[in-house]
Amino acid sequence: MAQKVRIFESANTSPLPKKAFIRHAKDCDGILSFLTDSLDAKLIQGLPRLKIISNFAVGYNNIDISAATSKGVFVSNTPSVLTNATADLTWGLILAAVRHIPQADRFTREGKFKGWRYNLFLGTDIHGKTLGIIGLGRIGRAVAERAKGFGMKVMYFSPSQRIEEENFRYQKVDIETLLKESDIVTLHAPLNKASLRMIGQKELSLMKPTAYLINTARGPILDEKALLQALKNKKIAGAGLDVYENEPKINSGLLKMGNVICLPHIGSATLETRFKMAQIAADNLIAYFKGQTPPPNCVNPKS
Ligand code: GLV
Repeated sequence: MAQKVRIFESANTSPLPKKAFIRHAKDCDGILSFLTDSLDAKLIQGLPRLKIISNFAVGYNNIDISAATSKGVFVSNTPSVLTNATADLTWGLILAAVRHIPQADRFTREGKFKGWRYNLFLGTDIHGKTLGIIGLGRIGRAVAERAKGFGMKVMYFSPSQRIEEENFRYQKVDIETLLKESDIVTLHAPLNKASLRMIGQKELSLMKPTAYLINTARGPILDEKALLQALKNKKIAGAGLDVYENEPKINSGLLKMGNVICLPHIGSATLETRFKMAQIAADNLIAYFKGQTPPPNCVNPKS
């Protein structure tokens, strides 16, 4: 069957307003969406022909899955191909945070380097320390694997109660133990009801004052205001963030903190990975229109 492809995107970088989205897509049978497209119940209901949404991301919290499912719309994602790139960036943030790499780079460029000093940008060791992983799915496990090379002890807590045998080689703990004992806490849970704002004031207050918090998962897992307070009150040593509660807005207080590293949601941003994601997102659609139901990488197969 011949398929027509229509590409629509807003002129600036912000996503299309809902009305414009519906206007452009109302006669579409399938949509390839980005994580910045909010496909809520109203939008899904406004698209009468829609049968499949192929999300160019592993996370699909931008889509109302129950609205899609009840309308018989399949939703697919791009898992696995971005695991390594995102785990690598997580480690980039960990090292940048504990060794103050962006701050030291700025200092050098500003002409402030006047010679070696015994106490210039003192960071902390990570070897022999404890890495606490919240969410031991594909990305969490890839982060754990890399921790071996850095000589770190790994413990994890999984908000979803799924027990997977391959995770047994890492120490499973409750969230309080993880927060109290980890030197670095890194978030890798998908955003859903169980993980929404799971790290707030109470959780941050359990962390060591020398510990760092890293988030390359989804912003709303972390209460940004509580994080700012924890940083101001020196409850934790610093943070490395790639994602935010209200992207692309970032809490202005966080941007002023010298011990926070802020990246613009680039976890999977390598040429190779984005190419594979594009290919999988397109293949999911093509397979469906060739008759494969549910489509590959479907997250709601009972639609
Ligand atoms: C990126 O954040 C993704 O979910 O693919």
